[in-house]
This record gives sequence, C-alpha cells and structure tokens, in this order.
Amino acid sequence: MSAKIYYDSDANLDVLGGKTIVFLGFGNQGAAQAQNLRDSGIPNDKIIVANRPDSYAEDAKSKGFNVEHNFANAAKQADVVFLLIPDQVQPRVFNTEIAPNLKDDAAIVVASGYNVFFKLLNFKPSQDVVMVAPRMIGSSVRSLFVKGKGFPCFVSTEQDGTGKALEIALALSRVIGATKAGAIASSAREETAMDLFAEQALWPNIIMLFREAFSVLKEAGCSDEALCYEMWMSKEPAEIFERAAEDGFIQQLKHHSTVSQYGQLNGALALDGTAAREHFKNILYNQVLNGKFQKEFSKIEDDLEKEGDENPLNILYKKSEASELGQAEKRVRARLAGLL
Ligand code: NAI
Repeated sequence: MSAKIYYDSDANLDVLGGKTIVFLGFGNQGAAQAQNLRDSGIPNDKIIVANRPDSYAEDAKSKGFNVEHNFANAAKQADVVFLLIPDQVQPRVFNTEIAPNLKDDAAIVVASGYNVFFKLLNFKPSQDVVMVAPRMIGSSVRSLFVKGKGFPCFVSTEQDGTGKALEIALALSRVIGATKAGAIASSAREETAMDLFAEQALWPNIIMLFREAFSVLKEAGCSDEALCYEMWMSKEPAEIFERAAEDGFIQQLKHHSTVSQYGQLNGALALDGTAAREHFKNILYNQVLNGKFQKEFSKIEDDLEKEGDENPLNILYKKSEASELGQAEKRVRARLAGLL
C-alpha cells in the first residue's frame, strides 16, 4: 500500500480567501504554524491567537499577533480553528468553550489523531474536520520554513461537512509549509495507531532489552561505566538511527565493521519473531485500537497533575530507576559529573 503525497502544486490557496483563522494555543506547534502561515501571506488581521493569559499569550503579542483571551469570542469569528493546545486538555476546552460558538461550516484542524479517532471532540456534521500533523517538533517546523525547506507531515480529512475539506486541508498545509517537501495522505486512525503502538509496544520492548542486556553484561563482570558508555552514553544508538534515516534501515549497517555487520544481520535473521509479533498484535488490537488504553488513561489524567507518589507517572519513574541499569547510571553520572 503506498500513500498519496501532496505537494504545493496540489493546493489552491483561493479557498482561504477572506477566512478568519484562529490558533487555539501558541505553544510548540501553535507559535510555529501561526508564524509560517502569516509569512505565507495570510493577512495578520485575519489571524487570531486564542490563548489564556500566560507566557504563551505574551509571546504571541510580542510577535504582533492579535490575541483573544476569551475563547468563545475567538470561536465565533473562526472560519478555521487550529487546535494546538495539549491533547489531554483539548476535549474539555473545545467541547465547552469552542464548539458551542463555532460556525456551522467551520473547519477544525488537529495536529494529532488521538482526540478525533477516539471521538472525544464534539463536531457538528456540517463542519469540516481535518488533520495536518507535522512529524517534527515546533521549532523545526519554524526553522525549516525560514530556511525555505519543507518538513514531513501527515494530512487527512476526517469529516467533510462542506465538501471542501480536502481543499482546505491542502491549502492550510501549504501555508504552514507542510506540502513543500510532500505531505503524506494519512488518517487519524493511522496516526494514532502508529503513535500509540510505538509508545506502548515498540519502545517498551527496547527499554526492556536494554535493561536485561545491562544486567547480563554486569553479571559477566562489565563495569557500570563501560556499560553506560557502550550502550548509550557514547550516543552510538543515536548515530545509528540518524544513519538509518539517511542511508536506510539496513544499509546503515555498512558503516559498521565486518564483524559487526555479520553479527547483527546473522543474529537478527536467526531470531524467531513469532512471539514478538503476537505480543505486538495484542497491544495494537486489544489495547490501542479498541480504546482500552484511552479509557484507562482518561481515568488517571487528573492524577498526572499531582505531586509526589499521588502522581502515577512519578511511581513509574521510581520503579524504572530502581532497575540495575537505572541505579548504575545514577552512580556513573554522579562520578563523572564534571566530564559529561
Ligand atoms: P504545547 O504543550 O506547546 O501547548 C501550549 C499551549 O497550550 C499554550 O498556548 C498554552 O497556553 C495552551 N494551554 C496549555 N494548557 C491549557 C489549558 N488547560 N487551557 C487552555 N490552554 C492551554 O502543545 P504542543 O506540543 O504544541 O501540541 C499541540 C498539538 O500539536 C497537540 O495535538 C500535539 O499532539 C500536536 N503535535 C505536537 C508536536 C510537538 O512538537 N510538540 C509535534 C506534532 C504534533
């Protein structure tokens, strides 16, 4: 299955003519996307930054944007609204302050699939809902645009209330700089599945493999210092992934010694992936796509604002740092404080 790629030439900016565009949030993505959009020629008096009174609002004001603290007022004027506040606060803010005041034919833009895929936002059927999801942190979305370069981005229409949702999504993608290098046609389902799968299946396994590898090598007599440096503090894994992105996931191996190439390729082919595949499928279908994780996470969301042991994330950190790897790294970092 290959995905459609959209370029600048696929976007017709006329569909944005005269439209008022509201950015709900001026953080990582909001600040970058709003500035890119304005620099692409959307008049400043057609852009409103809806932000509670905080340092982000001050930043928007200092950059010359019209800032509206009253979200209902901003929503009433919006033809397009970018939802660029943290995912976990979007349902409450959008459903109570934005949605009741939005025009029937407004376009709502999300930068992540989560709240749309899990149906946590209340849209009217007549409205357009699109996803324009940069695969980059906000500062890179801005700096690449300033350099005249594009950035990877996923685009989709999730609800086509006006019949023009795709046209609007592509025009918005173009003015924020996302179609310059090609934006990939995707969906909220695909984006959410891949994101949560990486977080709940792939990376937990990688953390577990490093943790167990550390213990085995330590038991075999390797020092804490040597292990920390060998395994990650030298930044070798970061370099490997950098090369994988540039040269290819398999081809990057050619930068390694022949002994290493032989060991890695032969070792990986000899491993039976059946159990891992079953485990991955279980996470994908029975935890991510069926909404089980989302429902469980929404129950503890408020606790994540709490201090100390009342915050479940703090408990997870404590348990993870109690591992042999976690303890050893702490000792090494304390000892080598001046050198790091
Ligand atoms: P952020 O954490 O930088 O958001 C800060 C903004 O949200 C500020 O304007 C702040 O005033 C506002 N805000 C925070 N809490 C609020 C509340 N309780 N009520 C009202 N406003 C509140 O957000 P970020 O990281 O830019 O994420 C925005 C969207 O972009 C999310 O959907 C995220 O998944 C998506 N995204 C983020 C990326 C990133 O680089 N961080 C990459 C790609 C997508």
